[in-house]
Amino acid sequence: MTASARVAIDPFGSDIPAESARLRALGGVVAVELPGGIPAWAPTGYATLKSLILDPRVSKDPRQHWSLWPELAENPDWVWILSWVGVVNMLSSYGPDHTRLRKLVAPSFTARRTEAMRPRVEAITAQLLDEFGESAASAAEAGGPVDLRAGYAYPLPLRLICELFGVPDELVDATGVLIAAIMDTSDPSPEHGAFVQQQIFSVLPALIAYKTEHPGDDMTTELIRVRDEDGDRLSDEELVYTLLLVIGAGFETTVNLIGNAVVALLTHPEQLEAVRAGKIGWDAVIEEVLRVHPSIATLPLRFAVTDITVDGVTIPAGEAIITTYAAAGHDPAHYGPDADEFDAARGADDHLAFGIGVHRCIGAPLARMEALTALPALFDRYPGLRLTVAPEELRQVPSFIAYGWQEVPVSLGG
Ligand code: HEM
Repeated sequence: MTASARVAIDPFGSDIPAESARLRALGGVVAVELPGGIPAWAPTGYATLKSLILDPRVSKDPRQHWSLWPELAENPDWVWILSWVGVVNMLSSYGPDHTRLRKLVAPSFTARRTEAMRPRVEAITAQLLDEFGESAASAAEAGGPVDLRAGYAYPLPLRLICELFGVPDELVDATGVLIAAIMDTSDPSPEHGAFVQQQIFSVLPALIAYKTEHPGDDMTTELIRVRDEDGDRLSDEELVYTLLLVIGAGFETTVNLIGNAVVALLTHPEQLEAVRAGKIGWDAVIEEVLRVHPSIATLPLRFAVTDITVDGVTIPAGEAIITTYAAAGHDPAHYGPDADEFDAARGADDHLAFGIGVHRCIGAPLARMEALTALPALFDRYPGLRLTVAPEELRQVPSFIAYGWQEVPVSLGG
């Protein structure tokens, strides 16, 4: 495959459904190029994506299964991808290592353990609604809108995950900056990549040092205990990267779920009306948002362990594959000709937004519970909520991975 035959993925993720449709027109699996020129294969439809994710010949461990892994360190334009594939945690492991690393964290996020977090989620939500009302009132006095992402969607998951992991106040902002920098794929420069690496190895060790000095009833303390008792269960490096993964995945994705849901409802007032009238459930809204606007649009990288032929295309052993959740959600072959439309009454309950198989999201119950708390509370408290810009003026976060609105300017109405 020559470089010119590859389709470049838009590093800004400016119009992911349109890009998915263009790729789909080229076939079931298409050769693409990620920022910095990293070659990969993109499944373009629901069935193909699902079969590749579930295929045991597809790995997530670059050290064992990516033919380009040895070259990575020598190519400064590829450094940015290290924070996705160079991490040593469950997200980038395969087989027994994956099972071992996942087992350390997954039991803390079962449906039952998540239910126990509900009172805290409700309390943070109530407090944020008050604070958001005050910010909106000041903004209205000054004649401007208020940003619902910054004032509501963002702080709820961030505060919750920081409480669960015992992140001290002085590290909360730095954690947010670090995760935003990892999600931003619009700048694959060596400087940006180096900044991210430097931040990972400053913020997480600072958290570990703090919790070693001030142990508490939190997940960081628990993981430090596991590492100290048995380094074979969790090494130093795995501890850093496991914290990075669970704290990062645990808030950024949910921020976008809440923001995407608010925009979907405000731009579809008839559906909002049906929700208020009890004709459509809040859970159906959330599942439909996850289908059309999944917080993770695309995830790098998986790797073919052997040659794999799918949809008439052979992905050679050692080559990289991206997982294209947004493309799957918009696939007309699976969801019909109106797959691009947000329709909470559709009743589609098989989206892949949380993944599937052994790497499926461990935080899905928590994300759903946070959204199911935050959304009805917001629309009940501020029934006049409306967007202050036309929908086409909203901008996506600059990423082909994260899929959400950079800002959601609103007013609280009358
Ligand atoms: C709307 C919210 C969320 C979305 C859309 C989402 C999406 C995903 C997806 C697509 C995967 C699968 C990755 C793969 O197949 O390789 C995943 C895995 C994961 N998610 Fe989430 N996630 C969300 C919320 C959360 C939360 C709240 C947490 C933490 C509590 C979390 C922690 C994780 C972890 C640790 C994994 C790795 C699992 C593994 O590799 O075995 N996620 N998530």
